[in-house]
Amino acid sequence: MDVIEAIRTTGACRYFKPDPVPDDVLARLFDAARHGPQGGNRQPVRYIVVRDAAVKKQLQEWYLHCWKGHLERGYRAGSGVQSGGVSTVVRDADHLAHHLEDVPVLVVVCAELSGLVITDAKLDRPSVVGGASVYPSVQNLLVAARNEGLGATLTTILCEVEPEVRELLGIPAGLITCATVALGYPERALPTRLTRAPVSEIAFSERYGEPLFTA
Ligand SMILES: Cc1cc2nc3c(=O)[nH]c(=O)nc-3n(C[C@H](O)[C@H](O)[C@H](O)COP(=O)(O)O)c2cc1C
Repeated sequence: MDVIEAIRTTGACRYFKPDPVPDDVLARLFDAARHGPQGGNRQPVRYIVVRDAAVKKQLQEWYLHCWKGHLERGYRAGSGVQSGGVSTVVRDADHLAHHLEDVPVLVVVCAELSGLVITDAKLDRPSVVGGASVYPSVQNLLVAARNEGLGATLTTILCEVEPEVRELLGIPAGLITCATVALGYPERALPTRLTRAPVSEIAFSERYGEPLFTA
């Protein structure tokens, strides 16, 4: 698949067939993932592939609990509300929350805390730079999955219950949880077009707010 085509069509997939994902396919995904950039090339990212039914069931229980909390706290308001007031993001995310245990593969993404270069750690705002050593690799995995005809969704809800997930999966001290990727063959056709802001709204020339390109 052309790389730009893959990037442009790697959307969130939350409906999966029960078919297993072969190991050689998984191997290609992690090979793509490991080529992502990390600060200082310290390579802190680790992946735990969860396929065991009982473990997935437990993860779903925690996930669903956290998800319901998000809904109660007003998650719907900011999330992809489309015409008619129906948010497909919330509808589909709700489906995933209720079916996580049925997803063929859950990839729990971890990172060695000492391997993260966190240049914004001392600023008076939430730090994000540590994640920059993690999520490019995860995006590589998502794009590689798209190339294989797999569907996937990056989720972060389970990070809220990191201590429980750590215990369940035997994640050593010093590693943190960063995401859980739901992965499998899609039940429906993968998207051909994603809803995103146009370049004219997001790219500026020299100063913030001066469009680089007009619409
Ligand atoms: C940082 C991050 C966290 C996310 N967490 C969740 C999540 O916990 N559950 C979920 O269903 N989707 C999650 N998503 C998926 C987003 O909802 C999805 O990428 C977004 O709605 C765009 O969807 P699209 O690519 O299909 O257009 C997350 C995505 C990102 C980048």
